[in-house]
Amino acid sequence: MERLIIRGGNQLHGEVSCSGAKNSGLPILAATILLDTPAKIGNLPHLQDITTMLELLNSMGASINFDESGYIEIDASNILLPEARYELVKTMRASILVMGPLVAKYGKAKISQPGGCNIGTRPIDFHLDGLEKMGAKIKSDSKYIYLDAGKLNPIDFNFPKISVTGTENLMMAAAIVEGKTILRNCAKEPEVVELANFLNNCGANIIGAGESTIEINGRASLKSTEWEVLFDRIEAGTYMVAGAITNGHVKINKIKPETIQIISSKLIEMGAIVESGGDWVEVDATTADLISKDISTEPFPGFPTDMQAQFMALNAISNGHSIIEETVFENRFQHVDELKKMGADISLEKNKASIKGVSNLFGAIVSASDLRASASLVLAGLVGKNRTQIEDIYHIDRGYECIEEKLTKLGAEIFREPAEY
Ligand code: UD1
Repeated sequence: MERLIIRGGNQLHGEVSCSGAKNSGLPILAATILLDTPAKIGNLPHLQDITTMLELLNSMGASINFDESGYIEIDASNILLPEARYELVKTMRASILVMGPLVAKYGKAKISQPGGCNIGTRPIDFHLDGLEKMGAKIKSDSKYIYLDAGKLNPIDFNFPKISVTGTENLMMAAAIVEGKTILRNCAKEPEVVELANFLNNCGANIIGAGESTIEINGRASLKSTEWEVLFDRIEAGTYMVAGAITNGHVKINKIKPETIQIISSKLIEMGAIVESGGDWVEVDATTADLISKDISTEPFPGFPTDMQAQFMALNAISNGHSIIEETVFENRFQHVDELKKMGADISLEKNKASIKGVSNLFGAIVSASDLRASASLVLAGLVGKNRTQIEDIYHIDRGYECIEEKLTKLGAEIFREPAEY
């Protein structure tokens, strides 16, 4: 076990580069199951969740080789055991992304129940309904879900609510189901578009990704391709907030500005200067006296739930009163109690947090409860007076590559130390 120690108060200045997006890398790795030849994937971030997905593929019989140029070659064309074991699924819910590809390619899959999770119940009923409509017979017990199908059929399916991994799972399955599948009320996240682009590069015929309705003309066989994973817009957004919260001036490189437009707009509304070019964005808050602003999370292109906790830390130290409403997950406020330990003035009612800006946060011993909550504590620690100690940081290692190195480069005082429990 390790903890992060931060001595707050430094204004951040300088440049940092984004890593590959975890939420793009995971479905692309799962999609290699659909291919008939080995794939070469680059720009995968060094993160625990990516390692877990590679372990999962390997446990099913895929071969994985790291080459010197940083690419990973994955041959998942001959899976021996179409099973996602509990020990792996319990550490990463996104393991369910192998379900659609397995049942479409091998006619069966055994997937551990993903269970609850600390940001809400997060059911997978849409994934299962879609696959069942495609013809899979589904049984489950307390531990596993069993899917069995001869050959899947194309479907016309309407998601009752927008789901990112739900869209990805059904899109992947339909890519090799002969005939035309239509998915409606789909997630429009850049990571969904990226997955469709990857599959199309492998020979799939997917039209409309990034819009509400996606049409998939299934192909019997997909061949591999070399692919570079998209950069991480949530990581970029987190460093943008790091610049703003410290009244600093940071430039974030290797990012598509159009994927973080809503984050830039919110920071401009709050009083920061935000500029962007081809593959960079710059946040200057050196002369700003930031004003807190209301936020309501929404599926893309709305304000991302994955940035809610980070803006909670920023609003906590900005002028005025704001409301943050969480509409995507029902229990994504576990950072609130920890931020309050650092002096934030936040009260909660149902899915709304009411935040009164304070002039100072102060260091405290706090605990990270999920990935983005951890990021908000790091951000609060950057401005907190004195020493902040963040426990349970394995969550942060699931989603932020080299966070101490990147923040240190920007001028923060942050380091990791072993924690004895
Ligand atoms: C993905 C992202 C996660 C992000 C979330 C929302 C990955 C690996 N993870 O998670 O970082 O926070 O999108 O942007 O890409 N739902 C159901 N039934 C289902 C599926 C979803 O009720 O079968 C509900 C969920 O409980 C939630 C909402 O739909 O309330 C959206 O969840 P979803 O988009 O599926 O989140 P994930 O894909 O798990």
